[in-house]
Amino acid sequence: MQKLNTLEQQSLSQIQAANALDELEQQRVTLLGKSGEITQLLKQLGGMSPEERKDFGQAVNVLKQKVQSALEERKEELETATLNKKLLAEKIDITLPAAPYRVGRMHPVSYVMEEVEGILSTLGFDPASGPEIETDFHNFTALNIPADHPARQEHDTFYLPDNAEGQKRVLRTHTSPVQIRTMQKFPPPLRIQAIGQVYRCDSDLTHTPQFQQVEGLAIDKDLTFGHLKGVLQTFLNRFFEKEIEMRMRPSYFPFTEPSAEVDIRCIFCSGNGCRVCKNTGWLEVLGSGMVHRNVLTHSGIDPNQWQGFAFGVGIGRLAMLKYGINDLRLFFESQQTFLQHFGKPSGLRP
Ligand code: FA5
Ligand code: MG
Repeated sequence: MQKLNTLEQQSLSQIQAANALDELEQQRVTLLGKSGEITQLLKQLGGMSPEERKDFGQAVNVLKQKVQSALEERKEELETATLNKKLLAEKIDITLPAAPYRVGRMHPVSYVMEEVEGILSTLGFDPASGPEIETDFHNFTALNIPADHPARQEHDTFYLPDNAEGQKRVLRTHTSPVQIRTMQKFPPPLRIQAIGQVYRCDSDLTHTPQFQQVEGLAIDKDLTFGHLKGVLQTFLNRFFEKEIEMRMRPSYFPFTEPSAEVDIRCIFCSGNGCRVCKNTGWLEVLGSGMVHRNVLTHSGIDPNQWQGFAFGVGIGRLAMLKYGINDLRLFFESQQTFLQHFGKPSGLRP
């Protein structure tokens, strides 16, 4: 009996002192396993007298139960401790700032194209388009620029090999050929806009070999120069989001008569004179005019019944003015700093 008491004290304090689950399991085996100490004691019962067996058996069984519940209790404690330790190690600190997530931006030229298309749509101009590889006829001849015309030289044209039908081909130098294609296809009245890429063999601060233009064309019975002016003034006011002071300066385009280039008050110096406007106080933004009779005739429209106006705007030029970008070539260089600064958030958020 004395031995049992000692064993009980030893076992219970060892179990209590166990610091890991495998250590505890080891103790279980030592005490209650097949050849464990308590198991051995129970085996001794067989060789005892009934009296001895009664008291001793009872005492051993009590000891066994105590040890069993001590083992279970300690096991639970150790399991909880392990779990807590694990939870603590895996804890996420939600107060840490998140890793930076770079969001791509829309290219300034792309969103200026969108803005322009939106404004012209509200003014009733429906989208139209034409090919970037154009016939010499659509790009020049039908626009009243015959083969030997000096205006051809101003366009620094990229020429391409003739097509299968032997037609001369060029990379279109402006969006004006879309005027011809639309008038050939649809009867008047017409009001269209054509935004797209155009190409000229040209490169400096304000000229790039590829650039974007938007063309406007309106054909009806009694359109006047006043309508042209009204449309352009409204377009510019809406694009620059303020009342724009503009002037129409007499100019020359073979496909319009009369023709005018449109200048706006320099938005960098408010007309006081600066480097951008070359001290003139004015900035040219577009070409325009009343559609030439020859152009209507080339497109199968009777110039005695119909008349209209057209205009062509450099998209890059508009973007430079609105966002204060001083070199057109930056639009084509894919510099991340430039695009992050001038690009527009795409609206999509992670
Ligand atoms: C034209 O291209 C005419 N088709 C415009 C027109 C249409 C007049 C309808 C009348 C009626 P111009 O060559 O000036 O015109 O070009 C128009 C605009 O394109 C210019 O004001 C300028 O903003 C832009 N532009 C011209 N060349 C380049 C270039 N190399 N790089 C970037 N923008 C250019
Ligand atoms: Mg010009």
